[in-house]
Amino acid sequence: RNRLDEVQTIEDALKLLKTSKKILVITGAGISTSLGIPDFRSSQGFYNQLQHLGLSDPQEVFDLQLFLTDPSLFYSIAYMILPPEEIYSPLHSFIKLLQSRGKLLRNYTQNIDNLESYAGISSSKLIQCHGSFATATCITCKYQIKGEVIFDKIRNKEIPYCPKCTKTRNQLLRDDEEVYIAESFGVFKPDITFFGEPLPKTFHDMINEDLHECDLLISIGTSLKVAPVADIVDKVPPEVPQILINKDPIDHCNFDISLLGYCDDVASYLANELGEGWDLPHEKFNEI
Ligand code: OAD
Repeated sequence: RNRLDEVQTIEDALKLLKTSKKILVITGAGISTSLGIPDFRSSQGFYNQLQHLGLSDPQEVFDLQLFLTDPSLFYSIAYMILPPEEIYSPLHSFIKLLQSRGKLLRNYTQNIDNLESYAGISSSKLIQCHGSFATATCITCKYQIKGEVIFDKIRNKEIPYCPKCTKTRNQLLRDDEEVYIAESFGVFKPDITFFGEPLPKTFHDMINEDLHECDLLISIGTSLKVAPVADIVDKVPPEVPQILINKDPIDHCNFDISLLGYCDDVASYLANELGEGWDLPHEKFNEI
């Protein structure tokens, strides 16, 4: 993809924010780090915090096949990624602001913390591409429950079992003491998307239409390393400008404008420059 010659500067970014009407926003873990939630791949990130597990690849904690054979690995670390209290960052407010001004086509988030909802982004504008902790499903009988039902177990690093399948298990054992029942029989899995699992249906339902409707793409706080979300930037029509807001440059993508820095600061700067009608509810302005 060739860069668009006419958009390159921060002034161009401001102009685009003023004029665009259907903005597609892609977000990742970097939009929540200012709240004390680690991202995945930074030096202080979640994957580096898993070194004690001695895995060849820390992403294995989200491997579906591994979970289905032995859920204990996931449940030994799941407490570390439980969603926090109802808090959100200035960057979340910035996306809400785009929505309030009628400019947000859709926010495709890879985050499972659900903080976009707390910030007021409506469910019709939000695609949680990697699911969330809001619900959990039994891997055996597919019984679905509210996620918070198993939060205490997760905090205690215990494996949560489905009550229906526990009954079945007890019945089977009563009938035949020797019967083999797998460790993972009747285990609840939070409805977050593991590697090896398809993305939620809403992602596939919406993305093609949104790709052709959007008039600006903004990617914020994501390393764009995980497909298919990472592929969105390549699929947007070439005439649609693309803006990056990220702490680190993303070398494998070709953005028209890169605004490098802490995303809260970048959003506060933009809102400040845009002036009236662009007030961020909890603005934290630093010079960038
Ligand atoms: P990564 O950890 O891969 O990338 C986070 C990006 O945000 C990095 O490029 C950081 O430089 C940047 N960043 C961190 N703090 C920032 C800040 N305050 N302001 C601006 N930028 C900041 O996280 P994701 O791209 O979200 O999947 O990771 C994608 C997926 O990989 C996750 O959804 C997760 C993981 O495996 C699943 O859990 C299935």
